[in-house]
This record gives sequence, structure tokens and C-alpha cells, in this order.
Amino acid sequence: MVNTKVNLCGVELDNPIIPASGTFGFGYEFALTYDINILGSLSFKGTTKDPRFGNPTPRIAECKSGMLNSVGLQNPGVDKVISEELPKLKACFKKPVMANVSGFSVEDYVYTVEKLDSESQIGWFEINISCPNVHGGGLAFGTSAENAAAVTKAVKRVTKKPVIIKLSPNVTDITEIAKACEAEGADGISLINTLLGMKIDLKTKKPVLANKAGGFSGPAIKPVAVRMIYQVYDAVEIPIVGMGGVATAEDVIELMLAGATAVEVGAANLVEPFACKNIIENLPRVMEKYKINNLSDIIGGAH
Ligand code: SIN
Repeated sequence: MVNTKVNLCGVELDNPIIPASGTFGFGYEFALTYDINILGSLSFKGTTKDPRFGNPTPRIAECKSGMLNSVGLQNPGVDKVISEELPKLKACFKKPVMANVSGFSVEDYVYTVEKLDSESQIGWFEINISCPNVHGGGLAFGTSAENAAAVTKAVKRVTKKPVIIKLSPNVTDITEIAKACEAEGADGISLINTLLGMKIDLKTKKPVLANKAGGFSGPAIKPVAVRMIYQVYDAVEIPIVGMGGVATAEDVIELMLAGATAVEVGAANLVEPFACKNIIENLPRVMEKYKINNLSDIIGGAH
């Protein structure tokens, strides 16, 4: 029998499959359709200090081989996440979860992490410095090595849990940003967030999204993700959580060969709510096909 276990920053996962933040709510919504305890873990909806309504609609647009979103970090704010969302998640998911945190200043990130830190179910923080859909935050940190380092350093001071920094592909050299985070104590790197894109409606002759541009995700971005994971694996010693266009067990194996220890599944959940379940069920068969006994043995195997 094949072994699908992996170890992410000292925490063992039954398998490397993690639904990506923003595509799986707070988990309990999906627990209505299947037992989500089969997942390796899940990264819950990006959480900010204050509640956010998000960007004006339309904020989703389908494209060939992918989709654009400009959600704008809609969430109820950290206090309500703690009082209303996490208890519902805890009732149906019995494993450590990844807390995805966004902010508009270093102080915001610190505030939200400090508040969430006492939640026992949180196994890792995923610090999102790569949201392309808000002004004055997110991406402003993820496109500068100096700013990325400052957020990492500040967050590391207020938690002992592993801190994984979520990076943007919208940069010239992602390895510089990854190295800056590692130097300030990041325990892991997750990549890639969405690629900035735009769609224009030929009838209105205007951008489809109210915010004009948005983050492009889905199968079309997988080769970009594989390339960036491969580059970052060569540049840092800390583990990588890979994501970008993953929809099958074969995709998971490809990202792991590039260097990912665990793999997030994003847009695929919006096309097929059972995407993660299907991947987890298919993984042993695909491992057998490619003669892989221990999944963790293939991490970075393409190098
Ligand atoms: C959003 O809420 O706009 C998406 C989050 C992200 O891309 O980081």
C-alpha cells in the first residue's frame, strides 16, 4: 500500500491536499457534501482585522482554461471568524487548519495573527502578501522583498506556530522575495497566488470586472506555478506549499516533483465541489502507476 503522508513544518498530514483559501469557505460549508476529514488540511477564507464587504460586482469572470476574480478579501473580520466561523469548522473538521491572514499594514497582520494565535485548531499561519485585488495592501507587500521581510519579521514575533508566506507570481524574480522571507524566519512559502489579468466584453467594450483587473487562476496557470515552485525550491531551504491550476492527482505529483511538500487546490473547487475528494481518492492509484511508494520521497525529485 502506498504512503501519502507528508510533513509540513513539523505537522504530519495524511495527504498533501489542502483546499486553497477563498475557494473552500470555512470548510463546514463543504462538510455538507462530504466528510472533509479526508483532506490533509484546509486553508480557511482570508481573514482581516476588520470585516470587509469586498469589491463591487461583477467580480468573477470565466475565461478559457481559467477564471478571473476580484473578490477583494470579503470576510466577516477576525472577531467574527473566531466567535462564529471557527466553532462551526471545529465541529466538523478534526485536524489542524491553516489560517490565511491578509492586511493593509504590518500592524494589521500582527493584530490578526495575535488574535488567532490562541485558537488551538490553527496549525499554521498562511500570510497572504499577494492579493492582487485591493489597494494599499496585499500585493504591495508581496512585490517588494523589503516589505515582505518586514511582514514576516513582525508576524514571527507574535506567534510560535509555523508561518508560511503566500507569494505573488506578479513579480520579476520570486526567489528574491522568498529568500527575504526565509531570512526573517518564515517557516514555509506558499505559491502561487493568482496572475493579474483582465477580460473585456465586446458588447460593452469595457472590462467585465467592476474592478477592471482581477486575479487569474485555473488550469492555464499550472505551468507558471510549476516553474516558480521549481525556482523557489532551488533558492530556499524551507518547505513549499505549491498551488496553481491543480485539478488532478497527476497535477499534485507534478507540483511535488517541482518542490512542493503540500499542494493547495483552488479554482478546481469552484468547478467541481468534489475536486479535492476525487484527487485524494485517485492519488494512490496514480502513485502506483508511476511507481511511487512514499509520496514524500518525490518532493523536489525533478531537480
Ligand atoms: C480576493 O479576495 O480578492 C482574493 C484573494 C487573493 O487573491 O489573495
